[in-house]
Amino acid sequence: MNGNGRAVLQVEQVSRHFGALAALTHVDLEVREGEVFSVIGPNGAGKSTLFNVITGLYPPTGGRVRFRGDEITGRSPAAVNRKGLA
Ligand SMILES: Nc1ncnc2c1ncn2[C@@H]1O[C@H](COP(=O)(O)OP(=O)(O)OP(=O)(O)O)[C@@H](O)[C@H]1O
Ligand SMILES: [Mg+2]
Repeated sequence: MNGNGRAVLQVEQVSRHFGALAALTHVDLEVREGEVFSVIGPNGAGKSTLFNVITGLYPPTGGRVRFRGDEITGRSPAAVNRKGLA
């Protein structure tokens, strides 16, 4: 389903490394109002890491995350949750 509204979630060039392991490298995605967006990939592809970065559990190594236009990069899960994202 394609959204045609405003951007709700914007992930820009997000990377997350665990030591030498690059779990996410320059991930870009945008989810718009009304859109259903899926993230798929094999075991270890980085899906959970992506959600953990978006929700604030892990700070990204690089890049930024915006929710409803506000930058939430590196904010705590509680702060992100208060903005309406979980
Ligand atoms: N806290 C962590 N410390 C070190 N490495 C981690 C950590 N979390 C994830 N990784 C590594 O990052 C990579 C991506 O893992 P992730 O769990 O994000 O994949 P996934 O796509 O969710 O996999 P699955 O389909 O098995 O749930 C893997 O190589 C994993 O071992
Ligand atoms: Mg997972």
